[in-house]
Amino acid sequence: MNIRPRINRWTQARRSMLFGNAPLHALVQPHFVVAGENIDTPIESMPGINQQSIDVLIETVQNDYDNGIRAVMLFGVVEHSEKDDAASKASDVDSHLHRAVQELKSIHGDSIVVMTDVCLCTATNHGHCGLVHEGEILNDSSVERLCEIAVSHAEVGADYVCASDMMDGRVIAIRSALEAAGFTSTGILSYSVKYASTFYGPFRQAADSSPEFGDRSTHQMDISSGYDEAILESELDVKEGADIVMVKPALAYLDVVRKVADSINRPVAVYNVSGEYAMVMNATKDDNSRRRMVREIMTAFNRAGADVIVSYHAREIAEKGWLD
Ligand code: PBG
Repeated sequence: MNIRPRINRWTQARRSMLFGNAPLHALVQPHFVVAGENIDTPIESMPGINQQSIDVLIETVQNDYDNGIRAVMLFGVVEHSEKDDAASKASDVDSHLHRAVQELKSIHGDSIVVMTDVCLCTATNHGHCGLVHEGEILNDSSVERLCEIAVSHAEVGADYVCASDMMDGRVIAIRSALEAAGFTSTGILSYSVKYASTFYGPFRQAADSSPEFGDRSTHQMDISSGYDEAILESELDVKEGADIVMVKPALAYLDVVRKVADSINRPVAVYNVSGEYAMVMNATKDDNSRRRMVREIMTAFNRAGADVIVSYHAREIAEKGWLD
């Protein structure tokens, strides 16, 4: 089965993220998980965001939870010595990322939504989002790896596997792989409309995922491409079985968010990416100016039609009651 509308209704936390009335519950806080213990390393280009080992992550998520955040997106940061050309670590159920998912779900159960990034770039030694052969990023064999990664995340309890790679046909392939493995309530959030943007710069430092050669322009969308391409990509993903469709980056593409929200019949998410976050953090020197700017940005996302907002600002918004 391709489309399972019940997936988005499966838990209380999913329903309140997608259909609820509490603006805080529609926010998703991203986290960068590293191996080891007691690690809490600030990411220079993203003030307030740290790379954390599982023990510290658990405390951070608990703190955010107490302030009203109910959804997280996890990125696994892989050590250099563990990277290879097949991104093996990305589907290793014993990895720190997988253990983090397992622990968070065992602590919070269905009162939290755990999303995981499904891509190869953090675990490949060349930093590309797919398998590479003679300098080219392969499509279909990369999709096979993405399926294995997605199933491994489902095995440890992820609510949504989030395909951020932009390979063709990956949503239907992941849906079939999940079905075949018996994971009929695991959702797929697809980065359907993802541009080859310079706004991802700080993230690549945080996740150690910069490509060693070339760029992402053979799979991510051209920044000048028109609405037709954005609608094609999102309609394809909906037909293939995506439960949530995402547009990324957010701020420079709000017109695209509106077009997509008007054209498809699934919830729409936006990713308020690292470069957008860094801009705001650099432009605001005190709480009050940041509160006003962040509120204005969140209002714009809602107006453009976003149901879910992935944002590094989520924590501060919740902590300081900025949406109250
Ligand atoms: C992995 C991925 C990226 C981001 C999310 N998932 C980076 C990229 O495509 O290079 C960017 C997130 C951000 O900038 O905050 N493919």
